[in-house]
Amino acid sequence: MRILMVAAEYAPLAKAGGLGDMVAALAGALAARGHEVKVVLPLYGDIDRERHGLAPCPQLPPFAVRRGDAVRRCRFWRATAAAGPDVLLLENEGLFGRAGVYGYAEAGEFADTLPRLALLAQGALTATVMLDWAPDVIHVHDAAAALAAVDLACWSRTGTPLAATRTLLTIHNLAHQSLHPRWEFPGLDLPTRLAWHPGEMEFHGGLNLMKAGILLSDRVNTVSPTYAHEVTLDEDLGCGLAGVLRDRGAAFSGILNGMDRTAWDPATDRCLPANYSARAPAGKTACRTALLRELGLEDGGPVLVSVGRLAHQKGIDLLLPLVDGLVDEGWRLAVLGTGEPALEQALRGAAAARPGRVAFAPRFDEALSRRFYAGADAFVMPSRFEPCGLAQLYALRYGTPPVVRRTGGLADTVADAAGPDGVGFVFDEATPASLGAALARAIEAWREPDRWGSLVRRGMDADHGWAAPAAAYEDLYRSLEGT
Ligand code: ADP
Ligand code: GLC
Repeated sequence: MRILMVAAEYAPLAKAGGLGDMVAALAGALAARGHEVKVVLPLYGDIDRERHGLAPCPQLPPFAVRRGDAVRRCRFWRATAAAGPDVLLLENEGLFGRAGVYGYAEAGEFADTLPRLALLAQGALTATVMLDWAPDVIHVHDAAAALAAVDLACWSRTGTPLAATRTLLTIHNLAHQSLHPRWEFPGLDLPTRLAWHPGEMEFHGGLNLMKAGILLSDRVNTVSPTYAHEVTLDEDLGCGLAGVLRDRGAAFSGILNGMDRTAWDPATDRCLPANYSARAPAGKTACRTALLRELGLEDGGPVLVSVGRLAHQKGIDLLLPLVDGLVDEGWRLAVLGTGEPALEQALRGAAAARPGRVAFAPRFDEALSRRFYAGADAFVMPSRFEPCGLAQLYALRYGTPPVVRRTGGLADTVADAAGPDGVGFVFDEATPASLGAALARAIEAWREPDRWGSLVRRGMDADHGWAAPAAAYEDLYRSLEGT
């Protein structure tokens, strides 16, 4: 099949979270299964063109597109890798030339987000026409790419390579819907009815790209079966769109993400001071020693880490009231993350109050994240909601049992140690007490090396690769043929 993916992130070129990992891994898995896959993303100013082997694309000469009153001059760059998906990066100095995918934590989202997303969508559709390449499916990821499906639903496409193309929207996080004031609508050049009740993009008097994507894509899915269920049942988790998703009925489903088992493999990971596997685990001890040294932590108890965006979603605040008790019990704690300034400040305070026991690394650093997954004994992810979560999968693969809340993809990927297939520790309530009880069970298990060892091995052996999910996406694409 011919598949065009449109997304704001694509690892390792542009990554703010799991979206970039997921899009790159799925595109790669589909290409490896013999499909023709192209990916379009913006050429952000901080993408290192040389390091990633990017060059202007000779088959696609510079072009200009018009939307509303704006005319934008663009050019496509291409990643020159011989195998895998064909990655096209859309260059436009004014909109994409600066650093950053969505904006900055302190300053918030970029003020020109809507024109940026409109150009991404238009650029992606234009590329298919310029290449005379007819995709069977345009697979758009999250609200940031949803406009490509919306455009396709609204534009006349007879006689273009897109005449028979179908669309799929994958929702990676319903909490980020890309909301905009209605006065920006004319810049989109879309039919006016979309912006007025009961128009597909109208949302409480403003514009909502996720909602328009949900209603105007041929199919919609999200990244785990449990989250798919939760967002239609629970108005809070549905973030105002539970009813809209329910209305799509069987056209909305959940497909659990996989993880790229080659890119994330402790046996070959070059960011680690030592390599290891489930069968030859010795290197993990060396990784642990090195991480403790790197973070200035004293040895003497299990090392509990967190890697993730410092956002309400991730529930790291639930850990804060527990810090003193955990340290007294013997835990060493380390957090790698950036995000909400109040959380950063609280974590800085916790580290300063317990030197040698608590560490906080306030930066986005993929190599360091790998040393965290490898060097820790346990991983904590107390998310209030979690569409899928990849961090817990990386922790499992690196032999670091996760302690997670039973929600979304965490519920679908982490079985509790109490059962025969257990790989981690699962708790129910989004409260410090419930998290604390799970951590108490974890340290108890850690004190029994045989029990802990088999927990670790089961997690490392679990197959969360992309074979099954890629086949599920293939089935979903095929179900669109001829519809
Ligand atoms: P989300 O997409 O909601 O952020 P996921 O668990 O799906 O959650 O993916 C998070 C991804 O971002 C993982 O690859 C994780 O390792 C990475 N990540 C998060 N914070 C950091 C950080 N501060 N430094 C490096 N990598 C990070
Ligand atoms: C989102 C979700 C996360 C998911 C990722 C990749 O960022 O928050 O749970 O794993 O997308 O699908």
